[in-house]
Amino acid sequence: MNRVKIAPSILAADHADLKGEIGKAESAGADMIHVDVADGHFAPNISMGPDTVRSIRATTRLPLDVHLMISEPEKFVGSFLSAGSDIITVHTEVVEEKQVSKLSKTIREQDKKLGLALKPSTPIPPWFKSNLASIDLVLILAVNPGFPGQRFMPEVLPKVGQVLELAHPAHIELELDGGIDQGNAPVIVRAGATILVAGASIFRKGDVKSAVHEMRTVIDRTLQEVSA
Ligand code: DX5
Ligand code: ZN
Repeated sequence: MNRVKIAPSILAADHADLKGEIGKAESAGADMIHVDVADGHFAPNISMGPDTVRSIRATTRLPLDVHLMISEPEKFVGSFLSAGSDIITVHTEVVEEKQVSKLSKTIREQDKKLGLALKPSTPIPPWFKSNLASIDLVLILAVNPGFPGQRFMPEVLPKVGQVLELAHPAHIELELDGGIDQGNAPVIVRAGATILVAGASIFRKGDVKSAVHEMRTVIDRTLQEVSA
């Protein structure tokens, strides 16, 4: 079974010390850094923009997984690409089907990846399967967008299997985001997620390194149980 990746969300980190926080997560074995961009419009919070991505790009070798919780994402994809994003995820609630292949082309020309995100109440769009060739990742939100530290909504889990079934046999990354901690990680791994985002459970537990290690241990134990 493939490694399930850990993507610490710096929305929950100390924003005055992103370099230090990212460094701790990286040295503890995090697989990528999740950057939550909220615009105060699509999501009821304002977080960070391309300049933050550019600055943190220079501090880490890890891929930057940029989650755009913004309206009109197509206007900003170019800025986030040139700032050094590796994965750019846009919300299906604010993109039309005809934009997907265009966004994908722009992003893949730079050897980067396109993700599509769904809010907890958003079903898989009817055009998902016919646009599969343009999509590298699906992000399923298990909280409403905007803030770290919210409660995980288990009712989103059936969407994981539905997406994987629609995508089969193509390989697609399945990222779960929101309210994930060392306690509920097993059920999310068992559902088939390939990337786990974690904000508060990594950056607000006191010790970033041991929080990443604990998450890694829980995930790997679950993968062993699944394959046994
Ligand atoms: C929700 C964000 C998530 C969230 C993660 O607005 O997309 O990435 O901040 O933080 P936790 O893990 O604390 O829910
Ligand atoms: Zn996110």
